[in-house]
Amino acid sequence: MEWTRTVLAIAALVFFFFQAKTRSKNKRLPPGPRGLPILGNLLTMGTKPHRTLQRLALHYGPIMHLRLGLMPVIVVSSPEAAELFLKTHDLVFASRPPLEASKYISYNQQNLVFAPYGSYWRNMRKMCTLELLSNHKISSFRSMRKQEADLLVHRIRVAAAACVAVDLSSMITSFSTDVACRMVIGKKYNRDDFSEKGFVATVRETMQISSAFNLADYIPQIRGLDLQGKTKRMKAISKDFDDFFEKIFEEHVQSKDEDRTKDFIDVMLGFMGSEETEYRVERDTIKAIILDMLAASMDTSAATIDWTVTELIRHPHVTKKLQQELEDVVGTSRTVEESDLEKLEYLGMVIKESLRLHPVAPLMVHAAREDCTVNGFHIPKDARIFINAWAIGRDQRVWPDADKFRPERFVGSNIDVRGQNFELIPFGSGRRICPGMQLGLTIVRFVVAQLVHCFDWKLPNNMQATELDMTEEFGIVSPRADHLLAMPAWRLNT
Ligand code: HEM
Repeated sequence: MEWTRTVLAIAALVFFFFQAKTRSKNKRLPPGPRGLPILGNLLTMGTKPHRTLQRLALHYGPIMHLRLGLMPVIVVSSPEAAELFLKTHDLVFASRPPLEASKYISYNQQNLVFAPYGSYWRNMRKMCTLELLSNHKISSFRSMRKQEADLLVHRIRVAAAACVAVDLSSMITSFSTDVACRMVIGKKYNRDDFSEKGFVATVRETMQISSAFNLADYIPQIRGLDLQGKTKRMKAISKDFDDFFEKIFEEHVQSKDEDRTKDFIDVMLGFMGSEETEYRVERDTIKAIILDMLAASMDTSAATIDWTVTELIRHPHVTKKLQQELEDVVGTSRTVEESDLEKLEYLGMVIKESLRLHPVAPLMVHAAREDCTVNGFHIPKDARIFINAWAIGRDQRVWPDADKFRPERFVGSNIDVRGQNFELIPFGSGRRICPGMQLGLTIVRFVVAQLVHCFDWKLPNNMQATELDMTEEFGIVSPRADHLLAMPAWRLNT
């Protein structure tokens, strides 16, 4: 039986390979490297595909074609090309490919991140933007964020008093997990609520498994064989999340406290069964969206804060300048409030520079909804579009000394991260732009400000800043591979 399935899979593969070749023969695809039969360029991607693709784009150009397995992939690597795909032809490229991870973990693409373009995605996105991520909703959690930031500062202050180093990466992750959980499920995640592996580790694994190249996504004909064992693992992860959400729903239904700030589950449960949004909101819809909100906010904010603080430790003159700005605006007898953030202009430049060099989502994956011609090149329907935000942020033509961390490059510049300037798109642009941008930027600016205002930092064991390993881990979210260990010293008069 197994043998017959394998032979059939290989036969289907060969058939689809030649069919795809014949179809694209007479069309002018963008230039790109030749690939192996059937596998295409899959084996050359390596562990850091955004870097591999940047190198290839230097040779083949900012709109490049390659094949991963049987799937045509178009890689976009310059601001001008990104504008063509995310603005001029945004409607064509605003979809997502049907990945295996979205089937198993995201309730069959019922979430927002993986949903294909269409009325379901439009309605869910509208509901999330209005009900969960509006300025009003974000403000309603302001005091909760302050409490959690105070707790973070307190923990670090205790370590400062004892003259010991802290694992800042772990502390930042705990902070952003607690903030995300309190906002989404109304409480901090409790160990007993989740499976043995733990909540944070499972969310991390979900992000990794969703981003690592899965053969089944690129050679669908061999999907049933589960050669990498990923389907089995995804089913197990999905079961863990499902059990967790059922428990949390039950707690919400039982809760009698009418006065608490409504968390995301309260809001979504309010829609359950209603057809207010054209689609009936069912239990699985809520679970899929809630998982999005948790996964999309936890690691993105934590990784951005971690990268920024690491760059600040590597550039003491930038830290000094930022501390001076904080002293001018806030003083030294109280800690930063969110209401101070708008006045902290240099802080804004520091965060932009960090997001330029370290976009936490280095490759954004879209899909072509129909055949399209871009810059004279044929882009086939269903092609996967990789927008290489990492390469765009390091494009030497638009960013002089692109590899250097220099926030001053934004002095007198109108370039912002909000999707209008294609040189800098850490949140994407167009229809699929990150709907949590405002919240993400608020959390990142707030926490970086606290860490730099309250503490001076140095590396433990006389380590030099130049020795810090700046290698990233590739994934949907790309954090620093190493944890940041640092020695804090309290610097306020409180
Ligand atoms: C510094 C923090 C953050 C960064 C850098 C970031 C970045 C991104 C990027 C690059 C995308 C993909 C855009 C595209 O494919 O074109 C995205 C999508 C998304 N983000 Fe964020 N994000 C952050 C925080 C958040 C937060 C706090 C939330 C929600 C609580 C959130 C929710 C989402 C959702 C739901 C999507 C999918 C949107 C769609 O496909 O329609 N993000 N984000």
